[in-house]
Amino acid sequence: MLTKKQKNILDYIQGCHQKNGYSPSHEEIRKHFKLSSVSTVSHYIKILQKKGYIKRAKNAARGVEIGEKDAVINIPFKGYIAAGQPIEAIEEYETITVPKNLVSTSGQHFALGVKGDSMIDEGIFDGDTVIIRKQSNVENGETAIALINGNEVTLKKIFKEKNRIRLQPANPNLKPLYVKSVVIQGKVISAFRNIEEQEKRNSDGTKFQRPYFEKDGISIFRDDILKIASIPNASIDLIVTSPPYNVDIHYNSHADNLTYEDYLEFTKKWIKRCFDLAKSEGRFLLNIPLDKNKGGQKSVGADITRIAKDIGWKYHSTIIWNEGNISRRTAWGSFMSASAPYVIAPVELILVLYKDSWKKTGGSRKNDITKQEFMDWTNGIWTFPGQSKKGAGGHPAPFPVELPRRCIKLFSFIDDTVLDPFLGSGSTLIAACLHNRKGVGVDIDKDYCDIAIRRLQQEAKIKIN
Ligand SMILES: C[S@@+](CC[C@H](N)C(=O)[O-])C[C@H]1O[C@@H](n2cnc3c(N)ncnc32)[C@H](O)[C@@H]1O
Repeated sequence: MLTKKQKNILDYIQGCHQKNGYSPSHEEIRKHFKLSSVSTVSHYIKILQKKGYIKRAKNAARGVEIGEKDAVINIPFKGYIAAGQPIEAIEEYETITVPKNLVSTSGQHFALGVKGDSMIDEGIFDGDTVIIRKQSNVENGETAIALINGNEVTLKKIFKEKNRIRLQPANPNLKPLYVKSVVIQGKVISAFRNIEEQEKRNSDGTKFQRPYFEKDGISIFRDDILKIASIPNASIDLIVTSPPYNVDIHYNSHADNLTYEDYLEFTKKWIKRCFDLAKSEGRFLLNIPLDKNKGGQKSVGADITRIAKDIGWKYHSTIIWNEGNISRRTAWGSFMSASAPYVIAPVELILVLYKDSWKKTGGSRKNDITKQEFMDWTNGIWTFPGQSKKGAGGHPAPFPVELPRRCIKLFSFIDDTVLDPFLGSGSTLIAACLHNRKGVGVDIDKDYCDIAIRRLQQEAKIKIN
């Protein structure tokens, strides 16, 4: 779908191409439309490119290529449909222009705007537009627009069963709807996203944002875990994470030197967020410091455990991670004197928490842990070294892949969904990917998301393009 301005710019580029055999430069486009700067032109070009109307040759002066001559087609836009609950049948009321490659070569098409998140596993999200080919039958399992109860339409996967029809949402948290009969109105051919709408939503932090990276069951969101709305509630089986420790690490986009009170406030907010995102049988493996010695002694581990329990997480146990790191020891207090010695334990905690019930009954129930691993790791002292910054693409505070690897194999089934709300250099997603779990990572910083993507390519052999 193009706005008027975007359509005008596309027409101008197409016109120049037809007349001259090449496309206009950014400066020519800027002058023609009296735009304030070339970067405004780049913005429009990027949108047209993302929407598939033009291709862009990198580093070329006139680097804009038109698709085919008739690359677009007009189809009726028939309004909005709830991908969740059925809504009233819709009336045709306007026309939209879409790239031709989004429709089939034959048949009549129309478009609908989608509301709701019941089709997210099919890649159809709230705010997307779906293109439908009119037809009155679909194969079992195909996604279709169905008319039920005479005047309600819904977007679902259709399964014809013995004495009924199952309308199946593509969202594990939603139940199917069963009806005696449906009238199929058409089959979903493709879906696309309105980029400007999405950008508007990102800034207010309350609506769906497309993943920054998505491949092989792994998604990365470049977002603030306190604001992100793109991960459905009650969709996560296992959370493995290490939050900022508030020890003045120089992160790119996060201030790691809050007052202790503010730090605990921040902790409350993100742990509540994780609670909402977890399934009822969801588990939370939280790597935090035992305590803090610089700038006043604090019982960080105990304070965060209390916060998590107040929010509703249930306590299972605590694993002690012995990093064996004694070289960083610098503060002795009163050396060789009982006056005021400092005791520092070179260990961190991994709290083991769960949402409602400890016993896991859902999911694939497929395990991949060996007998030796199970016996070793159920002993709650884990000894393995920390992770160097260099080995994690330069991220300032990574944990080793061994940490999420153990948590994932011991506490989740194959195909479960694992979340790291503070993704950093991507260690959790590497472990998830290597062990056949789905993975969702969130980090507020673009550079760290990029590091995570690079590490996924190198260490988990995810292929990009
Ligand atoms: C301790 S590091 C996590 C390191 C990670 N475990 C790894 O192995 O690389 C914390 C991360 O949280 C990110 N972060 C801080 N505040 C955030 C927020 N509000 N939302 C999402 N990410 C945030 C930082 O950018 C940083 O990368």
